[in-house]
Amino acid sequence: MNKIRKYRIGNPIQTDAVVEKIAIQKGKIPYLKKEEKSFVYQLNAEDRIYGLGENVRGINKRGWIYESNCADQPNHTETQHSLYGAHNFFVVEGKERFGVFIDYPGKLVLDMGYTRMDEIRITPEDWNLDVYIIEGKEILDIIKEFRTMIGRSYIPPKWAFGYTQSRWGYQSEEDIRNVVKGYRENGIPLDNVCMDIDYMERFKDFTINQETFPKFPEFVKEMEKEHIHLVPIIDAGVKIEEGYETYEEGVEKGYFCKEKDGSNFVGAVWPGRVHFPDFLNSNARKWFGHQYKILLDQGIEGFWNDMNEPAIFYSDKNLDAVMKKIKKMDNRDMDMWEVFGFRDLVNGLANNPEDYASIYHNMDGKKVCHDKVHNLYGYNMTRAAGEAFEELEPEKRVLIYSRASYIGMHRYGGTWMGDNQSWWSHLLMNLQMLPSMNMCGFLYTGADLGGFGADTTEDLVLRWMALGVFTPLMRNHAAIGTREQEAYQFIHKEAFKNIIGIRYGLMPYLYSEYMKAALRNEMLFTPLAFAYPKDEQAAKVEDQLLLGESIMIAPVYTQNAEGRYVYLPEKMKLVRMKSMTDIKTEVLEKGHYYVDIALDEVVFFIRPEKIVPYTVGGQYMEEAEKQELKTLDFVTKTAEYELYEDDGYEKDYENPKHYRTIKVEA
Ligand code: GLC
Repeated sequence: MNKIRKYRIGNPIQTDAVVEKIAIQKGKIPYLKKEEKSFVYQLNAEDRIYGLGENVRGINKRGWIYESNCADQPNHTETQHSLYGAHNFFVVEGKERFGVFIDYPGKLVLDMGYTRMDEIRITPEDWNLDVYIIEGKEILDIIKEFRTMIGRSYIPPKWAFGYTQSRWGYQSEEDIRNVVKGYRENGIPLDNVCMDIDYMERFKDFTINQETFPKFPEFVKEMEKEHIHLVPIIDAGVKIEEGYETYEEGVEKGYFCKEKDGSNFVGAVWPGRVHFPDFLNSNARKWFGHQYKILLDQGIEGFWNDMNEPAIFYSDKNLDAVMKKIKKMDNRDMDMWEVFGFRDLVNGLANNPEDYASIYHNMDGKKVCHDKVHNLYGYNMTRAAGEAFEELEPEKRVLIYSRASYIGMHRYGGTWMGDNQSWWSHLLMNLQMLPSMNMCGFLYTGADLGGFGADTTEDLVLRWMALGVFTPLMRNHAAIGTREQEAYQFIHKEAFKNIIGIRYGLMPYLYSEYMKAALRNEMLFTPLAFAYPKDEQAAKVEDQLLLGESIMIAPVYTQNAEGRYVYLPEKMKLVRMKSMTDIKTEVLEKGHYYVDIALDEVVFFIRPEKIVPYTVGGQYMEEAEKQELKTLDFVTKTAEYELYEDDGYEKDYENPKHYRTIKVEA
């Protein structure tokens, strides 16, 4: 019997989230009781809920109300209901064990024991959806079934695992040269520099500011010589401007989103008034994807897609209406209500639901209101890029990661976790979001290390880096106007050099584990609850994760801590690294410990009979690759490790020549 059962209600819009062909079942959906407006599941006291991808709160998602409604949301407080992604997959574990995927591209409310602590209540806006119920012997079996059903996760080029520096505000070639210099002069490893909107000519996609980047292809080459990849941002909105090719072509071909009356919808983002490409129209998607060629032709090999929920600062029509109202308020002695009303008017301009409801897509001939497919927009922007890269660069992997996403996008690109803050709580949130993202297929992901918004502190950056060492995307990114947080800006340069160096040293392990997780539809980051299902203590741990088959991580996420409490679900070997040449180990029995972890250390734990291949690292990926392979292990008899090696660009992932077995005998 198939472990996955699919049910259809109404006439759902096809999302292409699922790649496996699964027959639709008739009859009652198990576990979920269908009421008039919602699905309901009665929770038992011991039940835990896992999944939901990119969201606030803990690894166990029980006790809050989430909304799948891709949001341009820079305030990742625990009171939020939506972030940038819409990932409707979760697993209930307790009295019963089952997975649920609701393939529905509109807004979906997932009340996970919020209104009533003993009830899950899932409410779509209409009854046109597919429901998948997945059963399995263990949580990990359910996840693997689901991941197989949605298809293989995106695999970036290997250089994308190198450390990345980013900041909104690098204005010119000179600024970027200085960043690279700051790293190289201090011997701190670096592979990539992101280019934020500042590189464009007045924030126009696929343009380069000729004053600040006068010879861009030469500059790309110059950086290449320094072993640096430049990674430019692409925004969803296309500036309305006569003579701007992308705009004119899009208008001429009718590839932008429309108003009900068929005119092009006008919103505003960074460049002012824009049109939004209709990524849900396959011709428009193809057209937009091919725009990336403009930058590929100049030597670029990677991109990040932003503002693709889509974020709308205001719409033409809404701005008019608000301006009129504000004019009437002119010269008034405003009381409390009027001031509040005034504020609401202004704040309500951005990402206004009425605007979303007035946008229309041409889904290959069918006119569809944006509201019904909101969560597919960013997904299809990244799909546009991914599909185009397959055509434009068939032999080579191209890096792409997106802010907004829906399940299905995981096959085309990665994500970053959006505009977090320089808060200690967001370091923990970063950790807690990793497994839920993995459950939904998103393996290439990471948060803005050091925090995007607000001024950071040196110790926060150091501690966050010590987690970032392990995340596939290891990127330090910050907002314009905040404290500079490049690793060389602080006094503990040596510590930064060593911690980032550890990333490069552990690369043989990190890359192998990534590739195996992607190729086998497995988790990269696993909560202890999944790996040790019989251990009641493990189920409670919300701040440690297994990474791949060999190690457990337990980073420090509070300020002024000299270490932290760690639970060992089995006997493990503690590894304390100050650098790749200063490694101490100690075997610890199963149990609870307070582990001292200094600011300049990375600590992790090796599981019994497991191996961690490593090298001494290097200043950039190519250099690190040349180093001699060594192993750390906790082997008492004999054990084997499957190393995955390739040139980092090729796409014959399944070729057995990429695997090498490392054997260790005690
Ligand atoms: C958005 C992105 C952020 C970027 C900024 C400017 O806020 O999430 O990463 O720096 O836009 O482009």
